[in-house]
Amino acid sequence: MSTFTVVGGRPLRGRVRVPGDKSISHRALILAGLADGTSVVRGLSDGDDVARTRAAMVAMGVVIEGDTITGGRNGLHEPADVLDMGNSGTGIRLLAGLCAGFPWLTVLTGDASVRRRPMSRVASPLRQMGAVIDGRDGGRVPPLTVRGGGLRGIEYDMPVPSAQVKSAVLLAGLGADGDTVVRQPVVTRAHTEEMLLACGADLEVSADGLGVRVRPSALQPFELDVPGDPSQAAFWVVAACVVPGSEVVVDDVYIGPARTGFIDVLVRMGARVEQVGERSIRAAYSPGLHGTDVVGAEVADVIDEIPALAVAASVADGQTTFAGAGELRLKETDRIATITKGMTALGARVEPMSDGLVVHGPAVLHGGAVDSFGDHRIAMAMAVAGLAAEGPTTIDGWDAVATSYPGFVADLEVLCGS
Ligand code: S3P
Repeated sequence: MSTFTVVGGRPLRGRVRVPGDKSISHRALILAGLADGTSVVRGLSDGDDVARTRAAMVAMGVVIEGDTITGGRNGLHEPADVLDMGNSGTGIRLLAGLCAGFPWLTVLTGDASVRRRPMSRVASPLRQMGAVIDGRDGGRVPPLTVRGGGLRGIEYDMPVPSAQVKSAVLLAGLGADGDTVVRQPVVTRAHTEEMLLACGADLEVSADGLGVRVRPSALQPFELDVPGDPSQAAFWVVAACVVPGSEVVVDDVYIGPARTGFIDVLVRMGARVEQVGERSIRAAYSPGLHGTDVVGAEVADVIDEIPALAVAASVADGQTTFAGAGELRLKETDRIATITKGMTALGARVEPMSDGLVVHGPAVLHGGAVDSFGDHRIAMAMAVAGLAAEGPTTIDGWDAVATSYPGFVADLEVLCGS
């Protein structure tokens, strides 16, 4: 297992681009696979998660050469082998929805982390539509088998705010008989709706953004430059805020619903962070940060950024609360536990709650030995904390970063000028 050592105190300065957005990349591969003809997609995420979705689509007959993706609903076929989605919860859940729409058997699995993640949230609506889904523990965890086809549209009120569940149901709905309606408790990332509309799907979003209706649709091929991933940008933005002397601009980032809430949270904490132009974010060292409360509907907007925000909270004056964030326990790791362990080892005062975290600041962070626990976002959050700490920080299990940001160290070296 690889380690990475970061030495604190060096300011980050300059401009950086982050990998193509991971959520958009998964969807681009899936929708281009369904569209009749050749799509052109530039700038896909170079992480392992997206490579898994790419391989899965190829296993179902999609042809991918360079930036071109040639697909078509009628040309897809049953995959000849198990689809191994690696570490990707998005990959396995979206693929379950996609495959439910086809009259064949798909077996989906993943690494040890994915094989612990709850699948009932997608299995349940897909079963209501007529798919036969099984798996370990009664279909609760992968490996998962999906026997699809002959689906009927349903009206589904999502019990958890999850863009993955919404997307799985919408993808299944594309091939179902009749209308499929999904209602979410709060607005979650809207990539599937945005991208389906761009492909000409028969789809409507309610005025409040909570309800989505889709009808069986043929998709048109499309051309897309995948924008940068705001969840990766968040690591550089927080690093710039907490390391003295830093000023960073992250260029070409997706700005859209439920993705950039971390900017609002940081601004509320007194950070010098702003959107510049249409797609860049500028952040500068921000002494005098203070605590804030992240609760309610805002949690879904920042769920992936809480590891990075916890670092900012640790050096902020006063208390920062992340509440109603029980979903954190169901990510690549139990992030309430892994953030608490890692940040505490570096001198932060973090109190875990059943559904969130309370961070008591300000702490003077010191270097130390921490673990990614195999979780890419924990690894990168620890690196950011290490940059703000005195002395070296060694992160075990660094290879997890390849899941979403293989070039993280190279970009860090550019920003730190070494
Ligand atoms: C994602 C949705 C979110 C997010 C994940 C990506 C997506 O998960 O945490 O990293 O691409 O739809 P949930 O749907 O479980 O909230």
